[in-house]
Amino acid sequence: MENFILNLSYLIASVGFIVGLKMLGSPKTARKGNLIAAFGMAMAILATLFVYPHTANLNVPTFTYILILVAIVIGTIIGWGIAVKVEMTKMPELVSFFNGMGGATAALIGLLEFHHNIGNPGKMFMIIAGLIIGSISFSGSMIAWGKLSGKLRKPFRLPNYNIINTLLAIAILGIGAYMIIAEVSNPLYIYGLFALALFYGIMFVLPIGGADMPVVISLLNSFTGLAAAFGGFLYNNMAMLTGGILVGSAGTILTIAMTKAMNRSLSAVIFGAFGEGAVEGSGSKIQGSIKEAGPSDAAILLNYANKVIIVPGYGLAVAQAQHVLHELEELLTKKGIDVKYAIHPVAGRMPGHMNVLLAEANVDYDKLIDMDDINNEFKNTDVVLVVGANDVVNPAAKNDPSSPIYGMPILNVEEAKNIIVNKRSMKPGYAGIENELFYNPKTSMLFGDAKAALTKVVQELKGM
Ligand code: TAP
Repeated sequence: MENFILNLSYLIASVGFIVGLKMLGSPKTARKGNLIAAFGMAMAILATLFVYPHTANLNVPTFTYILILVAIVIGTIIGWGIAVKVEMTKMPELVSFFNGMGGATAALIGLLEFHHNIGNPGKMFMIIAGLIIGSISFSGSMIAWGKLSGKLRKPFRLPNYNIINTLLAIAILGIGAYMIIAEVSNPLYIYGLFALALFYGIMFVLPIGGADMPVVISLLNSFTGLAAAFGGFLYNNMAMLTGGILVGSAGTILTIAMTKAMNRSLSAVIFGAFGEGAVEGSGSKIQGSIKEAGPSDAAILLNYANKVIIVPGYGLAVAQAQHVLHELEELLTKKGIDVKYAIHPVAGRMPGHMNVLLAEANVDYDKLIDMDDINNEFKNTDVVLVVGANDVVNPAAKNDPSSPIYGMPILNVEEAKNIIVNKRSMKPGYAGIENELFYNPKTSMLFGDAKAALTKVVQELKGM
């Protein structure tokens, strides 16, 4: 009977993870999906704590339960406190930090279970694989967190760092394999392996530039999933196995999707030199003049348009201008103007950044159109309003083979009849390069913080 309840609980938990993950695919259902997956996780934890001991004839002392409860309460308070307070722009850092904790947990399982499984090569394989991958994920995620939060600014590269890292990886794999084959029982080996894997995680992420950090975080996320899946195998725990596989595969898919959208190969991210520093100085120097526009000029252009496309970017998030932008869009729609948002897959600083930001302001999901679906519409558009976006509308990605972003798919903004670009200055975006769109004769630069500038445009429009 207990076995049946345990398996049923794990089944419900696994279904919860799968349904939850599916629902995360759309902003409409994401909130509910998150809750369903959390319910599945709660179910898996409760079943493991209270049903599993009966099926395995384990007598868990009350004190152990108290310790677990205290750990859960402390973890919940800290996790909840951080998650409630975190700003949207700081989300990738938070994901990185939490992911690191998952990796550490998987590594600790290896340290704890090593002694109980000496002489069992199958289980030892799971333990060592989980320990190596979990440790790399933990230390790598901590470095990624440090980079994103600005604590570690510059990429740090030892000379020949690729060779050093490859040798380190070979050493780790070699020691792990030896421990399994020779049935090593000396605990120094497992602690040594743990230390080496932690060191490798640091060395793996340190040389990678900040611009590539979200890709790295997603990759480390898939590592943590894999490490947890090894734990699931080890304990024959179906919920842990399913959860780990889902995290591992979702992380891998996201990594591939991001590298595609940035036109970078995964090996270029890991071994290449994009990011801060490497980009500076590359790309052609742009000659020409810019045309400035005030809020009233922008309002006039928008007021007499039939079709407007809004291109949001990272600056919209910085300015927290999503609410006033939504107000502007509603105002234009009421005037009978067709308004849509063009969403570039890597606009902002995290996957889905613009979708989340605009959803926060209650923008209709149907108005958010993905790059591939809207790129043909720019040529029939009267006005494109670019708000705090830069790299994702830079035509150098199409025209300038010397540009570091050459080949990255971008929004065809320059095909529109009129372009209004709102940003604070002529400073570059994340890739650190100039943008010829700003010098296009069709472009008017509306300088200023997005919230302040758009508020003025809305006021002007209301008076028209
Ligand atoms: P960016 O190219 O970074 O440009 C953002 C622009 O916003 C800046 O040029 C900045 O110019 C402006 N800005 C900043 N604060 C502002 C404010 N308060 N009001 C108005 N404008 C403001 O952004 P993007 O076009 O969204 O492109 C994203 C970049 O990040 C791409 O290079 C992408 O590859 C990279 N990236 C994205 C991701 C994901 S997953 N989204 C992950 C890693 C890297 P001023 O300083 O002059 O105002």
